[in-house]
Amino acid sequence: MKVAVVKETFPGERRVALVPANLAKLAKAGFHVQIEKRAGEAAGFLDAAYEDKGAQLVSREDAFAADLVLQVRALGANKQAGRDDLPRLRAGQLVVGLCDPLGEPQAAAELAAKKVTLFALELMPRTTRAQMMDVLSSMATISGYEAALLGAINLPKLFPMLMTAAGTLAAAKVLVIGAGVAGLKAIATAKRLGAIVRAYDVRPACREQVESLGAKFVELPLAAGDAQDQAGYARQQGEEFLRNQRELLGRVVAESDVVITTALVPGKPSPQLINAKAVAAMQPGSVIIDLAAERGGNCALTRPDQRVVEHGVTILGPTNLPSEAAHHASQLFSGNVTAFLLHLIKDGKLNLNRDDAIIRETLVAEDGQVVADKIRGLLANA
Ligand code: NAI
Repeated sequence: MKVAVVKETFPGERRVALVPANLAKLAKAGFHVQIEKRAGEAAGFLDAAYEDKGAQLVSREDAFAADLVLQVRALGANKQAGRDDLPRLRAGQLVVGLCDPLGEPQAAAELAAKKVTLFALELMPRTTRAQMMDVLSSMATISGYEAALLGAINLPKLFPMLMTAAGTLAAAKVLVIGAGVAGLKAIATAKRLGAIVRAYDVRPACREQVESLGAKFVELPLAAGDAQDQAGYARQQGEEFLRNQRELLGRVVAESDVVITTALVPGKPSPQLINAKAVAAMQPGSVIIDLAAERGGNCALTRPDQRVVEHGVTILGPTNLPSEAAHHASQLFSGNVTAFLLHLIKDGKLNLNRDDAIIRETLVAEDGQVVADKIRGLLANA
């Protein structure tokens, strides 16, 4: 079975879906791996390294002729440039990658119309068995780390307390809102740099994890009701809850030098947790790093991938931090997709067993149809 890795075309994307270190495992399982020339270059993986591990270097056209096309960003997660590849796809081919099926269900429908079998890595179940294939977790880990560093670099203060002959510097105060995978890594990174870290999440289950990292959990007098769904994700909260939350959080935000927000609800606009009033109450020089910028942002003033300065407060909304650490991000992504590909094959042959939750839940399109119920529902209501 031929698997081809294509060069990413999303603007600014430097990751590659497979790295040379995973090729031997795939070859052993019966995959013949092809790599589009220079696909790994931006992440520091040169063509020669892939060739050394037995991959065949091919043109983009030839890569799209493979049985399975592997991408970091398939159409949906690459809205404009991804469209150029539509004519290259053919019926019966498999496409595996991120494709934002909940945010861009129409793109899934377009791929379905090409009769490709589409697997969306975003839909990986949050189970122990699927953990090794979970790209959302591995990429969120990188985003959280990068967000803490971005906060540290942009703050006109140091993170650690320093006692020097010239005087004492107080440690910076960092607040992390949303203590999922990215938030927890941001907490750990800010702690290591010496900041005083507090964190808040709507899911009470996070408290223990926050405290285990040495941060303080911020308790707000709010009844979140059933904050967590079966998959472990946060549920969407009502507007009244969010209004109260903004009000109460505003006080904690005002006391913080750096605020890192990561609050997401899958497939929904991100909850607005910091309004303009709360920003105005922060000290000049303070920094907000909003990791939810792609879905509207947790701060009302966030503009995706832009530097906004209001009342002396810098607000950054980076939308592709994993690409900033492209080498390690590709390494983790590749480890995840390698595990996934090995899961799709049995005795050297493709084996799409629908009884298996990992296959069933990630499968979006097949035989010309969108088959994932969630995505069909979104398309029906569009
Ligand atoms: P996410 O990226 O979807 O959201 C980030 C965080 O924002 C979450 O912790 C969420 O509770 C929080 N949030 C949402 N709305 C909020 C609001 N209004 N106010 C404050 N916080 C809000 O979440 P992520 O990081 O993907 O993790 C979701 C869950 O899945 C976690 O429980 C995590 O431990 C679990 N998980 C399980 C895995 C496994 O078992 N294989 C792998 C990865 C995550």
